[in-house]
Amino acid sequence: MGRFKIRAESLYLLKAQRSILRPRGRIVLLWAGGIGVAVSLFAMPLAAQSGSSKAPSPLAVLAPVTFTSTSAENVFVVVSANDGVKDLTLRLNDGPSVMPRRSDRNIHHFRTRLAIGPNVIRVIGSTGNTTVAEELAIFRLAKVGMRAVAPFPKYYFHTDLFEKRCKSCHETAPETASEKDPTVKSVCLKCHTPLVSEKFVHGPIAVGTCSICHNLSSEPNRYQLKQASFDLCLLCHTKTAEALKTSKFTHGPLGAALCDVCHEPHSSPNLASLRQPSGEICMVCHKTLESLYQTRTYLHIPFKQRMCCKCHDPHYSDENFLLKKTDDQICRSCHQEAMEEHTHPVGVIPKRKLPFEARYGEGGELLCVTCHNPHASEGEHLLPKEGCSACHMM
Ligand code: HEC
Ligand code: HEC
Ligand code: HEC
Ligand code: HEC
Ligand code: HEC
Ligand code: HEC
Ligand code: HEC
Ligand code: HEC
Ligand code: HEC
Ligand code: HEC
Repeated sequence: MGRFKIRAESLYLLKAQRSILRPRGRIVLLWAGGIGVAVSLFAMPLAAQSGSSKAPSPLAVLAPVTFTSTSAENVFVVVSANDGVKDLTLRLNDGPSVMPRRSDRNIHHFRTRLAIGPNVIRVIGSTGNTTVAEELAIFRLAKVGMRAVAPFPKYYFHTDLFEKRCKSCHETAPETASEKDPTVKSVCLKCHTPLVSEKFVHGPIAVGTCSICHNLSSEPNRYQLKQASFDLCLLCHTKTAEALKTSKFTHGPLGAALCDVCHEPHSSPNLASLRQPSGEICMVCHKTLESLYQTRTYLHIPFKQRMCCKCHDPHYSDENFLLKKTDDQICRSCHQEAMEEHTHPVGVIPKRKLPFEARYGEGGELLCVTCHNPHASEGEHLLPKEGCSACHMM
């Protein structure tokens, strides 16, 4: 039985690219060590799968396809239901039931957010007193942070196969493939309105068409990006492009040619079109700093408020640690007044080094961060836990 399951599973994977599959039985997703494994438990023997005499399900999922992966945060689920199917709802990972956003005759449209990693989507309805359900497994790849291996082929909707399921009611392609044609956008927005409906709409979306970045005639998958996303961004953001070339230090993700890990290219609820509020987005990758919030007693106010960009530049810098100004300048920009009563020397070379490892200026002089932790500490005043005795033999 165990071996049999694996064979049936690989069959599904092969077929998944070409046709809609209707898994029979419950989909079980296992999430182990960063790699998702989907196992479909069959109620029926393999031979019965193809020439099944069982009555066809009164529900059919038209999009997306089960056992595929995507990096999008949301997905539309379009279902056709036979007459007599009532009370259709969708449940993501056994969460709350949601109603269709739109229904037209027997076609029902849902939209759901996906969790990173494996997702099970169940569409449930009832005919009389029996429950009918369809399930799909969709794997969401992370755009930021964790990179998981996708266990399934990628889901592309804009292919002949899928689009023809919607043709009876929707125009999926603009009439002309002209870049300047403003009607391009209106065709796309018949379906993709949610993508551009957040508070901050990116410049070219507000004034231009989708075809500035998406290729209207790519094959076989339509509307692919014209260039790698990083190159697209730099095409218009020439100031950033220039600074990347001339700055001494480049932030990790930009060094890896990524902009859209942090920025949403269409619209976003956050300032600067960030995928998460500034500050929170930093923690997605800088996990060790996140742990300071729980483990350290004293948090520096700007750190506590997650105003990372008061001190760091998210893109590039000529200073160490991507600081916006030199170490001491950055601290003095907020603490000039406090420094008048400061008891300890700064900017001078100490007679002896501190009894623990600390960072000094290039000439060995005392920096603010030689004594203070800029983020958080165990001791008062962002100093070591032991207070004066951490540095002085008392
Ligand atoms: C029976 C007709 C019909 C079919 C078939 C159909 N739709 Fe729709 N769809 C509609 C109607 C009506 C609307 C709402 C009016 C509009 O904005 O065009 C809509 C709206 C949508 C929206 C926008 C939903 C929203 O809430 O923002 C999406 C996305 C969509 N359809 C996708 C699809 C896809 C994908 C298919 C094919 C798998 C499909 N539809 C098949 C009739 C249909
Ligand atoms: C009938 C509705 C509909 C229309 C019209 C439509 N799309 Fe889509 N599009 C979808 C659905 C459904 C997906 C799958 C992803 C999802 O569910 O959000 C998708 C996915 C995409 C993707 C991701 C790649 C892919 O193929 O899955 C791109 C890019 C895209 N659409 C661009 C466009 C552009 C550009 C236009 C206008 C020229 C357009 N779409 C018109 C429904 C539509
Ligand atoms: C400034 C360039 C740019 C413009 C203009 C643009 N896109 Fe995109 N689009 C992208 C990038 C980059 C991606 C790559 C995926 C990502 O990281 O979100 C993308 C991905 C998508 C996707 C895949 C789903 C997702 O959430 O990732 C859809 C759908 C899409 N675009 C539709 C549109 C539509 C519709 C328009 C016009 C209203 C449009 N785009 C205009 C850059 C653009
Ligand atoms: C066709 C030209 C064009 C392309 C391509 C483009 N942008 Fe923009 N971008 C603009 C314009 C225009 C603005 C608005 C400028 C302003 O408001 O100062 C803007 C603004 C922004 C902003 C600032 C938003 C704010 O609220 O301050 C960010 C962030 C951004 N773009 C990121 C990107 C990323 C990431 C990409 C690549 C996926 C990209 N842009 C591709 C033209 C472009
Ligand atoms: C590590 C995350 C991250 C990456 C990667 C990233 N940005 Fe940003 N970006 C930010 C943050 C955070 C802000 C807001 C800065 C602030 O709050 O002071 C921002 C602001 C911006 C702005 C508006 C303010 C300004 O500086 O002009 C633009 C334009 C921009 N980014 C473009 C880009 C482009 C183009 C790329 C890729 C070359 C990119 N970003 C990559 C995090 C990122
Ligand atoms: C997509 C993942 C990612 C995100 C999001 C991210 N970083 Fe980074 N960051 C990196 C990588 C990778 C490095 C380079 C590796 C290293 O040097 O530790 C780095 C390096 C840094 C450094 C320099 C460390 C050093 O030792 O020189 C600072 C400072 C920094 N990031 C701050 C931020 C801030 C502030 C944000 C939020 C605006 C942010 N990061 C968001 C991945 C990320
Ligand atoms: C008050 C200014 C300030 C704020 C606010 C701040 N940092 Fe820093 N950060 C620094 C300084 C200064 C250093 C250099 C530390 C050193 O010399 O040891 C640094 C170092 C770093 C480093 C590299 C060394 C390490 O500890 O891993 C990262 C990554 C980093 N900061 C990320 C962040 C993030 C993310 C935030 C927001 C939650 C943040 N910083 C907020 C000033 C600041
Ligand atoms: C964006 C403004 C800002 C920047 C930049 C800044 N600080 Fe602060 N800092 C504050 C605020 C606000 C407080 C809490 C109020 C206070 O004590 O002044 C604080 C508190 C402190 C304290 C603790 C005071 C106490 O009695 O507990 C120390 C020490 C400190 N900062 C050192 C630094 C150092 C070192 C730097 C440079 C790496 C720096 N600050 C950069 C805003 C800033
Ligand atoms: C040689 C070690 C050392 C250096 C370098 C140093 N400090 Fe301090 N700082 C201390 C000690 C010790 C205290 C707490 C004892 C005290 O109040 O006198 C303190 C206290 C503070 C306080 C809290 C003062 C108050 O009255 O609440 C602030 C703010 C501060 N430092 C900022 C800075 C800034 C900004 C720099 C760099 C320009 C800096 N420190 C450099 C050791 C240092
Ligand atoms: C983070 C380390 C650190 C802490 C904590 C610290 N100091 Fe200092 N202190 C120094 C350094 C470095 C000097 C400069 C000594 C030198 O030039 O060699 C200094 C100098 C002094 C001096 C001047 C005399 C001398 O030894 O040169 C006094 C007095 C002093 N500290 C008292 C204190 C008191 C009281 C506390 C607790 C409130 C304290 N310090 C906490 C690092 C520290």
